[in-house]
Amino acid sequence: MIPTVVVLYLNVVILLHVAACFDDNKSKWPVPYRRFDHRPDVDPFCEAIYPFCPTGDRDGRVPDVRNSDVISVYRLQTPVWEFKYGSLLGKMHIMHDAIGFSSSEMGVNYTMEWYELFQLGNCTFPHLRPDVYAPFWCNQGAACFFEGIDDMHWSQNGTLEKIGEITGGQFNEMARWVQNDNETGIYYETWTVRSDPSPNATVWFESYDCSQFVHRTYRKLSQLGAKLSSQTQTNYTKIYLYSGEPTYLGNDSAIFGQPALKNLATDIRKFYNLFRPHQSFFDLAFSLLEAYKTVVLDKDFYLYYNFEYWHLPMKPPYIQITYEEVPLPSPVKTHHKIK
Ligand SMILES: *[C@@H]1O[C@H](CO)[C@@H](O)[C@H](O)[C@H]1NC(C)=O
Ligand SMILES: *[C@@H]1O[C@H](CO)[C@@H](O)[C@H](O)[C@H]1NC(C)=O
Ligand SMILES: *[C@@H]1O[C@H](CO)[C@@H](O)[C@H](O)[C@H]1NC(C)=O
Ligand SMILES: *[C@@H]1O[C@H](CO)[C@@H](O)[C@H](O)[C@H]1NC(C)=O
Ligand SMILES: *[C@@H]1O[C@H](CO)[C@@H](O)[C@H](O)[C@H]1NC(C)=O
Ligand SMILES: *[C@@H]1O[C@H](CO)[C@@H](O)[C@H](O)[C@H]1NC(C)=O
Ligand SMILES: *[C@@H]1O[C@H](CO)[C@@H](O)[C@H](O)[C@H]1NC(C)=O
Ligand SMILES: *[C@@H]1O[C@H](CO)[C@@H](O)[C@H](O)[C@H]1NC(C)=O
Repeated sequence: MIPTVVVLYLNVVILLHVAACFDDNKSKWPVPYRRFDHRPDVDPFCEAIYPFCPTGDRDGRVPDVRNSDVISVYRLQTPVWEFKYGSLLGKMHIMHDAIGFSSSEMGVNYTMEWYELFQLGNCTFPHLRPDVYAPFWCNQGAACFFEGIDDMHWSQNGTLEKIGEITGGQFNEMARWVQNDNETGIYYETWTVRSDPSPNATVWFESYDCSQFVHRTYRKLSQLGAKLSSQTQTNYTKIYLYSGEPTYLGNDSAIFGQPALKNLATDIRKFYNLFRPHQSFFDLAFSLLEAYKTVVLDKDFYLYYNFEYWHLPMKPPYIQITYEEVPLPSPVKTHHKIK
């Protein structure tokens, strides 16, 4: 099961040399998450077991509210896939985050969340298809906006807390921003990669998941003038990898389309063969343990970010799941023009 360490090692040494020759040492960390000009169609190979956003508007339309409306904003959090596994994942603090809105003029409320089209396993590990040389990713993620807030679902084993009020005008502006964010930020990223667990660590890559969407939205709302505050500590799940400075390897066509990089291509396939996507969260958790062994023994990880591969020279503690505080943004000070 374990890839031959020597072959991997030699490959990495050669690659580091190649990279060093081209590296103009201008790398900025973390690597920015790539935005696209539009969301591409999903490949028919990717099939969802659970339909994405079943009760949302097909075209992602968000109703216009009157500028004078007062909209309450709710922080929503619940253990992942609780409907299947009870609160076990809650005890492990693997949480899903969303935002709720409720209009006082219309008496209607809404839930807004961002999640995987094909579940977490498919966004974390690719498929190795016999007929396609490059590993195949079903890793799109998107925003879902739908009418209603299921109070029980969020409050019973999680959080349902009002954190502020915004005007209808602010809500409408946020809705336009979400639609653009949804069209340009198209793929899910499970991992946050950083140099070590200390607060001063260098972050090499940021995750792009449900909680990042919630943070982005809170920041947008606070830029629009909203004041948000919570009575409790606002903690979120993070899945970390720890590594030394990553090395850029290339995209699919560079790595899998060139005979010269055949060894690297083979190594990446071998690596991901250990972690095929899984149907259930428990399989994934098991796979993460397997990943841990491999990663600890070989100290190698091939990260796919922005549809490109990077080599991570892994180091202790390798992988960690944390549930840590990310405070709500403080209100943005408005600058008054001096006349
Ligand atoms: C980048 O610059 C630092 C300090 O100047 C140097 O130690 C490092 O080797 C350089 N990295 C690469 C990949 O050239
Ligand atoms: C993951 O993707 C595969 C390939 O499309 C699909 O068969 C499977 O149902 C997906 N898993 C989930 C949980 O949606
Ligand atoms: C985001 O994009 C997905 C996929 O195209 C779509 O189903 C969803 O309705 C969109 N959501 C919003 C809020 O625009
Ligand atoms: C909350 O957790 C309990 C115990 O695990 C479970 O029976 C119940 O269904 C959960 N409630 C909701 C609303 O998911
Ligand atoms: C959302 O609306 C439903 C249906 O009217 C109601 O039962 C629920 O309490 C509301 N939740 C919030 C947080 O406003
Ligand atoms: C973080 O950086 C600050 C300022 O550079 C330093 O005072 C502090 O000791 C560092 N903390 C850790 C844990 O490295
Ligand atoms: C892949 O990378 C090469 C450069 O290495 C670039 O020319 C090409 O446009 C990239 N392909 C895609 C699909 O981004
Ligand atoms: C929330 O985060 C803080 C700081 O990151 C941590 O000290 C605290 O233990 C966390 N709370 C829970 C319930 O894990």
